[in-house]
Amino acid sequence: MATLDLSTNHGSLEQTLTEHGQSHVAALLHNLPERDRQGWRRRLEQIKWDELQATYEAAKDVAAGEPAWVPQTGGCDSTLILSPLRNVVARRAIGDRVAWQEAHRAGELHLAGGHVAAVMVAGGQGTRLGCSDPKGMFPVGPLSQKSLYQWCCEQLLFRSRKYHCSIPYIIMTSEATHEATVRFFHEHRFFGLDQADVWFICQGMLPAVDQETGEVLLAEEHSLALSPDGHGGLLDALTRHNVWQRLRRRGIDTLSYHQVDNPLSPICEPSFLGWHLLRGADVTTKVARKRSAEEKMGLVMEVNRIPQVVEYSDISDDIAGQRDAYGDLRFWAGNTGMHVFNVNFLEGLVLQGPPLPLHVARKAVPFWENGRVVQPETPNAIKFERFIFDVIPRAENALFVEADREAEFQPIKNRTGQDSPQSCRTAILQLHRRWLQQAGVLVADEVPVEISPLAAQGPEDLSKLLPSGTTLLEPIVIHPN
Ligand code: UD1
Repeated sequence: MATLDLSTNHGSLEQTLTEHGQSHVAALLHNLPERDRQGWRRRLEQIKWDELQATYEAAKDVAAGEPAWVPQTGGCDSTLILSPLRNVVARRAIGDRVAWQEAHRAGELHLAGGHVAAVMVAGGQGTRLGCSDPKGMFPVGPLSQKSLYQWCCEQLLFRSRKYHCSIPYIIMTSEATHEATVRFFHEHRFFGLDQADVWFICQGMLPAVDQETGEVLLAEEHSLALSPDGHGGLLDALTRHNVWQRLRRRGIDTLSYHQVDNPLSPICEPSFLGWHLLRGADVTTKVARKRSAEEKMGLVMEVNRIPQVVEYSDISDDIAGQRDAYGDLRFWAGNTGMHVFNVNFLEGLVLQGPPLPLHVARKAVPFWENGRVVQPETPNAIKFERFIFDVIPRAENALFVEADREAEFQPIKNRTGQDSPQSCRTAILQLHRRWLQQAGVLVADEVPVEISPLAAQGPEDLSKLLPSGTTLLEPIVIHPN
């Protein structure tokens, strides 16, 4: 085997790797077949090795299972003042009706002007649901069995038809989901969307390191153990795919962001966009009242008076469980993963840096050793991810709007029970029954009725399809015609 003389590689990738405790990767690179080497160099050069090492050093001594929270506002634990969110726009049902109407109008105008694009983050697989396909391929339509992808695309198609505008859909995939997702869209003719307005961008990957040594793990003899760089990788992916320029050319200044796992996330919903626009926000986030202290939602709170999301895995049970004088959760605001972003604000963060911080998670990661793959049963590795919500503390003006939780937040996370496909389908049927009742349509008890996202996004859209007084006696999917 050829030996590697690192002393002659000053300033080279090999030297960087060696200086950051990764000489085995430098050797791997050296021993790769020529045809693979260039690809590997490009991949390795994209990784910020000093940042990775510093993050590992800071995390390695935090005991497994203990929260490893490093707030972005600086300071040490003893000086941190945690407080509930202020300035949250009260949800529509209890908020200022006129102000909500104004917001709705402002959002409609912006959509009609063609100034909005949608972003879906879809890098995750359905692992927790027991399948290795992209989560977006999972069937969610209670009667129609439409996939999450179809449900989301039809929402967008509905809005673009309603406001006579085109709305580009930026879909962030990962190496694990890209091919299958693109194929699925082609097979389904982009669910009626204009193919030219669906922009797939693939996020980057980051290596997993051994939790004892900080050395990057190998997945096989000639490959690194890599995983997606988190939804915060969106900023980098937008840059690599030249999306900033494309948005500018189209006059798009606002992004409506959502996660693939929540079909009821209202994509490009006018009022949410309108609040963001009227308040001149850099970022606006939908928050939902948490059901319990234990619920796995990121906590949206203020740290030293600066709002930010603190991930559920990064905070102690004591803090998550704090109650106010009325017995309500003090940190009640859960992150729904729905945001509106100002394009200039995001691009400014990319241009001016620093990158979004790396978060760590301890995981059991299979690794290559002595000619075979070892499958550990307990966490052996530290994985790194960036989170998009870390843009919030960097905003001059971050706004929060309370969601109508039942109608807007029904994510699919688990195989069974809460936040499962079944609970989501039940919630969709209940919501659609409510819309029909509000539109004066009678639905026989126990009869499931599903409304296609192409037909309506609320009771107000139903009156054109079903005259008040209509009675539905059979299970049915309501289509636009
Ligand atoms: C996430 C949020 C949590 C929030 C909850 C609401 C994070 C870290 N936490 O939790 O604050 O309360 O949703 O449902 O996001 N994704 C990618 N690429 C990646 C990783 C994730 O595209 O590298 C996408 C997933 O496909 C999914 C979304 O990001 O659409 C959320 O990721 P997931 O890991 O499922 O987050 P949760 O733990 O559910």
